[in-house]
Amino acid sequence: MIKKTIRPIRSYVLRQGRLTKYQSVALDKFSKEFIISFQNKKINFDSVFNTSKKKIILEIGFGMGDTTAKIASNFSDFNFIGIEVHSPGVGNLLNRINEQEIKNLRIIQHDAVEVLEHMIPKSSLDGVHIFFPDPWHKKKHNKRRLIQPDFIEKIGQKIKKNGYVHISTDWEDYALWILDAFKMTNNFSLKTSEFFVKPDHRPNTKYEKRGIRLGHQVWDILFIRQ
Ligand SMILES: C[S@@+](CC[C@H](N)C(=O)[O-])C[C@H]1O[C@@H](n2cnc3c(N)ncnc32)[C@H](O)[C@@H]1O
Repeated sequence: MIKKTIRPIRSYVLRQGRLTKYQSVALDKFSKEFIISFQNKKINFDSVFNTSKKKIILEIGFGMGDTTAKIASNFSDFNFIGIEVHSPGVGNLLNRINEQEIKNLRIIQHDAVEVLEHMIPKSSLDGVHIFFPDPWHKKKHNKRRLIQPDFIEKIGQKIKKNGYVHISTDWEDYALWILDAFKMTNNFSLKTSEFFVKPDHRPNTKYEKRGIRLGHQVWDILFIRQ
């Protein structure tokens, strides 16, 4: 008898995007050094980075990763973990890490929801960056949005007290949705006002540039773990 399997709702579609030769070579050459494989075991950040007690920032959905590389090189006192499912982006960021000799950044190529659940130790993160998550703007697709109350609860467990979550989006409807979703949990407070001016330390991302070309406004929101 055929059994009906229930598939989880994913916040991404795995596009079979073409890998450039340069990205494909990077995946072959640099994965061993800079990629942490998905596993059902908590990460020991000190041994991954070979340093002790540096602050850990997790970025979810880094896309092509150019912004991630810039932030990691500008903030060498922090260690960064970038999560992305899309291979061309992972290949691109591996090249940036190699070219720019970035020591404080590692990549996990897997669904961030599962990474948070299985790999990130409780109260271990100092900050979480989510820049321009897929908007899933059609009403019937809203359920695919990454930012959902359950997901925020999960982040709340993994982030330290006074740690931050910085989210940006160029969809007003999603910005308001994010505010509502965070207000549904007791774990976070807003930093100052509801939206704040984009900080200089966040370089424009690829999706952001596209949004700006389309005439979109950009919203940055900063939540603090209570
Ligand atoms: C709209 S793009 C933005 C990329 C980048 N942050 C930027 O601003 O250019 C969203 C990215 O999040 C990734 N993504 C979505 N859901 C994810 C998940 N659950 N785990 C890991 N990556 C995810 C997608 O593959 C996509 O590359």
